[in-house]
Amino acid sequence: MALVDTKKMFEMAYKNGYAVGAFNVNNMEITQGIIAAVAEEKSPLILQISRGARSYASMSYLKAIIDVAVEENPDLPICMHLDHGDTFETCKQCVDDGFTSVMIDGSHHSFEDNIKITKQVVDYAHDHGVVVEAELGKLGGIEEDVVGVSHDEIMSHLTDPDEAVEFVEKTGVDSLAVAIGTSHGAYKFKSEPKLAFDVVEKIQAKIPGFPLVMHGSSSVPAEFKELINKYGGDMPDAVGVPESAISEAVKMAVCKVNIDTDLRMALTAKIRQVYAETPAEFDPRKYLGPGREAIKDMVKRKLHVLGCAGKAAECL
Ligand code: G3H
Ligand code: 13P
Ligand code: ZN
Repeated sequence: MALVDTKKMFEMAYKNGYAVGAFNVNNMEITQGIIAAVAEEKSPLILQISRGARSYASMSYLKAIIDVAVEENPDLPICMHLDHGDTFETCKQCVDDGFTSVMIDGSHHSFEDNIKITKQVVDYAHDHGVVVEAELGKLGGIEEDVVGVSHDEIMSHLTDPDEAVEFVEKTGVDSLAVAIGTSHGAYKFKSEPKLAFDVVEKIQAKIPGFPLVMHGSSSVPAEFKELINKYGGDMPDAVGVPESAISEAVKMAVCKVNIDTDLRMALTAKIRQVYAETPAEFDPRKYLGPGREAIKDMVKRKLHVLGCAGKAAECL
């Protein structure tokens, strides 16, 4: 089966209270680890490519790797998605390159300009049978104890539910990434992790059936942080979104959950371990191979947290 878009995936995810994992790919080993996990768990899959991934690996290499994955797994619904497209031109290029879903991230623009650029991308993408994700609000932790930052200031970065309705109506976008207190990377919270689920509930009440997306959803599992630190790494203060919170969100309108940092940590922890335990080793296959296995195990774990294990067939 060819690459698919996210329409059917999101329809089933919304209806049945789970979310599809969107995992970032940067090279062959990462892609193979992800694919091996979803093949074993029979899950729908979104493979996402950032601007950084495109410049690191080149689009033609990444596309060729994904084409092989799709060809070898005809029973899996796989979507190829642009993560954080920054301009209309980037999104257009990805539509032309065969992506089945693109994200235009206009969250740094004014509300009006975000609508304008998103609508431009939606018009082009929809004409070519490609779905679009946009973003409204600013990602970032809810830190109530940050000195000098008022409660109103913190809340003003979150997605405004009324604006979300207007944004969806005016742009015709297919899904919306919301700011509810998550952030990218391994250092998401300075104190107790906290998410604004009430924002999700309010949007869901106003536009029932409309799929929402959670970025910055890695959980930075303690055991991987400990392994990295034990084998020479230095990330003592890393904190992620608790997996229990993710499992709660997917029962609401959250249909897509973005995970990159946890895969990076799994790969890094394993490679550090091999280096530390077998310092004479210099065959890349001897550390990239175990690294690929570690990615597979991490993705399998996530598919269960998201509830999408076993859901491939209903998304076809
Ligand atoms: O959005 C953030 C993702 O983790 C992608 O990161 O831009 O370094 O590839 P990147
Ligand atoms: P993490 O850094 O939490 O993995 O988030 C990734 C992401 O949102 C990619 O768009
Ligand atoms: Zn993101």
